[in-house]
Formats: sequence, structure tokens, C-alpha cells
Amino acid sequence: MNITPLPGRIYQSIPRFEPYLAAEIGVSGPAWGILYQTPEPRDHIFWHRNVWLEPFQAAFGSVSEAAKILRGIQRNWSPLWHTRFRRGALIREQLPRISDKPRPFPWLVPAAPMGAWTLIDDHTIIASAKCSSPFPGGCITFIEDKETPPSRAYLKLWEALTILRRFPRPGERCLDAGASPGGWTWAAAQLGAEVLAVDRSPLADRILALPGVEYLKHDAFTLRPDETGPVDWLLCDVICYPSRLFDWISRWLASGLCRNIICTIKMQGLPDMETTRKFAAIPGGQVIHLWHNKHELTWIYPLAGYSSSMA
Ligand SMILES: C[S@@+](CC[C@H](N)C(=O)[O-])C[C@H]1O[C@@H](n2cnc3c(N)ncnc32)[C@H](O)[C@@H]1O
Repeated sequence: MNITPLPGRIYQSIPRFEPYLAAEIGVSGPAWGILYQTPEPRDHIFWHRNVWLEPFQAAFGSVSEAAKILRGIQRNWSPLWHTRFRRGALIREQLPRISDKPRPFPWLVPAAPMGAWTLIDDHTIIASAKCSSPFPGGCITFIEDKETPPSRAYLKLWEALTILRRFPRPGERCLDAGASPGGWTWAAAQLGAEVLAVDRSPLADRILALPGVEYLKHDAFTLRPDETGPVDWLLCDVICYPSRLFDWISRWLASGLCRNIICTIKMQGLPDMETTRKFAAIPGGQVIHLWHNKHELTWIYPLAGYSSSMA
């Protein structure tokens, strides 16, 4: 067996956001297909779908030898196709099956590591047993409720909570800022939590009627933490400049009145990387591009064990 560690990290790009990743890394293009590489581990790279934290290269002769190399390291291996699809498919057939079915929610994602691999030629695999995302290839889909929630935005919250492996519980209090039309509020109420939904626009009537949901027509950013009181979950999906969100979140953190925070950092035009780095510098939190995010990032606090800068 011929395994050689590769230096640095390998980043799986997000379709349409490759230029952001290339700019963060400071390269002109990918090393292989949709994979970008840094020569050393780096902090504060955000526009990726998954980071290969301990990349290596392995030479192999036959398909079964390739599968044996991966199986010898761990069970879970998710393939990434960009070339040599047929040979890759033959190797995958000899690896334990990884389900790509939509998941129910809440779903406790297994703690076992999810590796990633691809072929760069007929006799060379590149792979990493440890990756930043617990999902195969950084992708997760859920069994959706297409009837009740008034928007599909709840899928972002579901994904963030799945990564956190913690969920709002009955008896816990959530403040949902920028709640209209009510997707996130619905998701939190479904879990049995109490929700104070704050927005200048109203929520859908069927969401307002849910038990435990209270609506406050207000500018979320002029609402002081001491006015609402302590919350277990501070949720924010307000469309605003990232710097405004950062100032507001900083006030909440300084108040000591919230335990968990999930907020989307929505980019207006080019991404505001200065503010994004300020979020990332808050100890204990992580800035992630979720599978369900579009032109935005998500800050999750506190979040341990998910890190593109994991040693
Ligand atoms: C992307 S939508 C939120 C979608 C919501 N999370 C859901 O799941 O249905 C953004 C919301 O932010 C609200 N918004 C914008 N500025 C606000 C502010 N300063 N205070 C409160 N809400 C605000 C808008 O009215 C809009 O309803």
C-alpha cells in the first residue's frame, strides 16, 4: 500500500461561488476538478462545501485494492466525482453503502467520521478520512413538509441544528428575529419551544395560531436584550448589512442573556469578508456555508467539533 500524506487542506468548492473560494485561498483555480488546495492548514476560509482536513494520496493497481485501502482506514467514504466516473463507481461498489436519502427532522447525525475521496487518474486516489462536514460531500437533504411552513427557509435552520446536534426543547425560549413569513418560527415551535417572533411584517396566520408562538411587530435591531429577557435560542434571518447584524449580536453576547445563536450573514453584492472574519473570531462560534445557504453564510454559536481549522 502506497499512502502519502498531502500538505495543507483540500477545499470542495460550491457551484457558482468558486471565485470567492479562489480569492480566499489566493489561487487562480482548482488543483483538481472542484477541489482547491492550500499548502498549509489555514483559518477563516468560508466559501466551501467541505474541507478535507487530513488529505492523502494513494497509488493502487486494481479497483479492489483501491477499495481495500479506504476500507482499511474507516467505514464511511463519500465519493466525489469529477473524472473517471466508471472506475470510481466500481470502487464505490466495494465500499460500505452511504445513504443519500432525505433525512427526517430532527435527525441525530452519526458521530462516526465521514471521509471523502476521488480519483485523479486511473491509479491514484486522493482522499481524507476527516472532513469538516458530517454529511457526505457536505450535502444534506431532509424530508420536507410542503404543507405547513410558509417558506422553505426552515431548511437552513434544520441543517444548522443538525450540525449542532442540539435542538430547541419544550420549555426553552427562542427569539426569532426577521421571522416573517414564519418558516424558522414554525421549525422551533414544532420542536415544542416557545417562540417570540419579531418582524416588521406579519407572519402567516397558521403560524401565528401555533401554540407557544407570540408575534411582536418591531424592528429587531432596536429591541434591547433586557427588554425581551433571557432566551435559550437567538435566531436571526434578517436581511441586513452584515455589520449591522454583528453590532446587534455583539450586544446580545455582552448581555449574557442568550445561550445559543444561529444567524445568517447575508451578503449584499460582494461578500463582506471583514465582518465575516469578525464573526469567526468570536471564540466558540463557527461561520459555515450550509448546503441550504445561497449568497449568505451562517454563524452558529457555540459550536464545537465542526471546523475547517480543526487540527
Ligand atoms: C429572509 S426573510 C426571513 C424568513 C424567515 N426566517 C422564514 O423562515 O420564513 C427576512 C425577514 O427580515 C425582516 N426584516 C428586515 N429588516 C428587519 C428588521 N430590522 N427587524 C425585523 N425584521 C426585519 C423582513 O421583513 C423579512 O421578513
